Amino acid sequence: MTDPMQDPDPEAARETSADEDDDDLPSNPSTAPPLSALIDMRLGRRATLKGLAAFTTLAGFGAPLFAGAGGARAAPSSLTFEEIPHGVGKGVRVAPGYSARVLIRWGDRVTADAPGFDVDNQTAAAQEKQFGYNNDFTAYMPLPRGSANSRNGLLCVNHEYTDPHLMWPAEKGKGFSGGITREQVRTEMAAHGHSIVEIRNAGGGWRVAGSGRYNRRITALGTPMRLSGPAAGHERMKTRADPTGRRVIGTLNNCAGGTTPWNTVLIAEENFHGYFLGDPETTPEARNHKRYGLGRGGARWAWGEYVDRFNVEKEPNEPNRFGWIVEIDPYDPASTPVKRTALGRFKHEGATTVINPGGHISVYCGDDQRFDYLYRFVTDRAYDPANPAANRDLLDSGTLYAARFDADGTMTWLPLVFGNGPLTPANGFHGQADVLIETRRSADLLGATPMDRPEDVETNPVNGRTYVICTNNTNRRRNRTNPANPRAGNRHGHIIELIPPVADGQADHTARTYRWEFFLLAGDPAKPRDRAMYLADISANGWLSAPDNCTFDARGHIWIATDGQPASGFADSVYAADTAGPGRGLTRCFFNAPRGAEICGPAFTPDDRTLFLAIQHPGGGSTFEDPSTRWPDFRPGMPPRPSVIAITRDDGGVIGS
Ligand code: FEO
Ligand code: CA
Ligand code: CA
Repeated sequence: MTDPMQDPDPEAARETSADEDDDDLPSNPSTAPPLSALIDMRLGRRATLKGLAAFTTLAGFGAPLFAGAGGARAAPSSLTFEEIPHGVGKGVRVAPGYSARVLIRWGDRVTADAPGFDVDNQTAAAQEKQFGYNNDFTAYMPLPRGSANSRNGLLCVNHEYTDPHLMWPAEKGKGFSGGITREQVRTEMAAHGHSIVEIRNAGGGWRVAGSGRYNRRITALGTPMRLSGPAAGHERMKTRADPTGRRVIGTLNNCAGGTTPWNTVLIAEENFHGYFLGDPETTPEARNHKRYGLGRGGARWAWGEYVDRFNVEKEPNEPNRFGWIVEIDPYDPASTPVKRTALGRFKHEGATTVINPGGHISVYCGDDQRFDYLYRFVTDRAYDPANPAANRDLLDSGTLYAARFDADGTMTWLPLVFGNGPLTPANGFHGQADVLIETRRSADLLGATPMDRPEDVETNPVNGRTYVICTNNTNRRRNRTNPANPRAGNRHGHIIELIPPVADGQADHTARTYRWEFFLLAGDPAKPRDRAMYLADISANGWLSAPDNCTFDARGHIWIATDGQPASGFADSVYAADTAGPGRGLTRCFFNAPRGAEICGPAFTPDDRTLFLAIQHPGGGSTFEDPSTRWPDFRPGMPPRPSVIAITRDDGGVIGS
């Protein structure tokens, strides 16, 4: 979700107000050493890490980063594509020798019985069968299940939110709230959620194809879901419609996500607060709802005018049923999605799994809010590839942790376990369900490190390190900087590299302490006030702003998609860099999005010959009548349509090689 969605957030506004209420905020006193000292500390440790590298299988320490552009060092990137310039246009642009083709658009058929798209006559019944709005997380799941087939698979795509200004003509759409009709609300609910479509590349490019027997829409309107894990069935999860506290209709604001070793998809419920009307202060959940930003004019959608459960004064517990990680089995179209409460409740950006040496699974999640936290979940039981049934509910039991970063380069995982430290009845916690429903307040009390909006968190399959993308935080003041978030007024964001200990050549993502480094501090290296930090040879087109999602190819290159770069005067883009060797951190521009769009969900096929990208909110900031682009159709009367594209190399080769 792009900055325009975050900036009006009353929670964020409160965080900058002079009279902020620290009862509701993390209190992590900062010694605030100067930025230069922090960078020196982090770089100073590189010599030590070089030494460590000799004893491990981890590769590629030691290429120093430099603040500012230029520099005499040769820093060859192992990426071979010709860098494209920063720019902005009505369409997309990709590196020479590559092609970007639209695969599926908002309104295209998903189920076999879906009607064709009619933008002037949108209905909920049609939208429930068509591709939803504002595509975000994208996973390619090969067919058959568990294979590495890069020519036929399931495209699994989140639909994060709707943008009424571009979805409806002005006389029909009255903005995010007010004047909207019941049918429009139902249509918007149907445009949220997730799509599963079978796709195939028989040599002539990718097409939505195949039998379609897996094709499915999951929506906020009508898809029943099961709640599982420690919070399921708790009193605070019960509503009039669901006295069991174990069943909920739909999922909201599905942003990034992840996949599991047992071939399911995890989708993250992010800004759920924006869907609830009413005054939370009148409810028994006032403190809880306040910490998640409900109320204070924070509702962005008017669904509660027609649907009682989206009014907290009528259903005070309904928000507790959102903000979770949802697990979907895309290979079973009849399966019920499951909200896994053990992974905590917050504005989940994504969920990335790692298999540890002993078979336990770690799941990394960011809470995308200014001054919120990074989390990790570790399963109690080990993954068993030979016993699929045993893995089905693996994510229901385990330990959730929040991250604390220290200036000496250590990071510590703080267990969010009932009874641990302040997580007791004295502070309003009466069991693990309370700790999970109020994950943020639990992490506040444990002293987790307030971050600059942690979005995607992904692990590099080659070096075993985990990369935390902090997109930006313009509200961070100098007296609230901390070692891992060192820039006041952080406009451009940064990427942190987590370094778990290594045992028998494999990273141990269950360890209680890691080391950490900066991978880059984004911004314009030619502007000293940005205090950016890249490899010295960064080009005038290689620098970036507002990193959001990322992925890795099989050779360990990081591919970074941005959200918010228009603030820098050019389109959101995809950048790629080495994570090891002399080109480590040398980001290069590969792809430009259409005007107004952010780029989400970068995902490779197993052979790295196709890169899927979700183009979200093209024409963002403009209107249905006068859009800033009509990508991808470019037809009069047709607004821009969020779409997933497939990028391939014209000679069929491996992307970036
Ligand atoms: Fe939905 Fe944090 O982006
Ligand atoms: Ca995002
Ligand atoms: Ca974002």
